[in-house]
Amino acid sequence: MSQSPARRTVLRGAALVGAAGFGVAACSGAKKDDGLPTEPVELGAAAEVPVGGAKLYREDRLVVSQPAKGTFKCFSARCTHAGCVLTGVTKEEGDCSCHGSRFDVTNGQVIQGPATEPLPEVPVKNKGGKLIAG
Ligand code: FES
Repeated sequence: MSQSPARRTVLRGAALVGAAGFGVAACSGAKKDDGLPTEPVELGAAAEVPVGGAKLYREDRLVVSQPAKGTFKCFSARCTHAGCVLTGVTKEEGDCSCHGSRFDVTNGQVIQGPATEPLPEVPVKNKGGKLIAG
């Protein structure tokens, strides 16, 4: 009992569309701009950012860390190498899976290339328990 060639073709096509869709999402910001918000962006509860850690806001292309209780730092999450949006954070490190760059998200500095430029900082404030960036 094997599948008909037509069904296999459809399934293979669907898999390719899925992979292509992921590629677009991961590198949707491939053009070289700074990725900084042009108006204030409400990110949600400040309590969601762990002390000694960070939270990635991929949709907003921002990353916020809280190196000390009540101190928030916000950076563009657009990798300075080729413009992919960071794909994850581990404690205070932001990772770009496009080519492997890693950033310290408490100061934006590059930990590992190929990126050479730091992430641009974005002003952020805690207003009544909500983070507002930009
Ligand atoms: S775009 Fe991030 S490492 Fe290349």
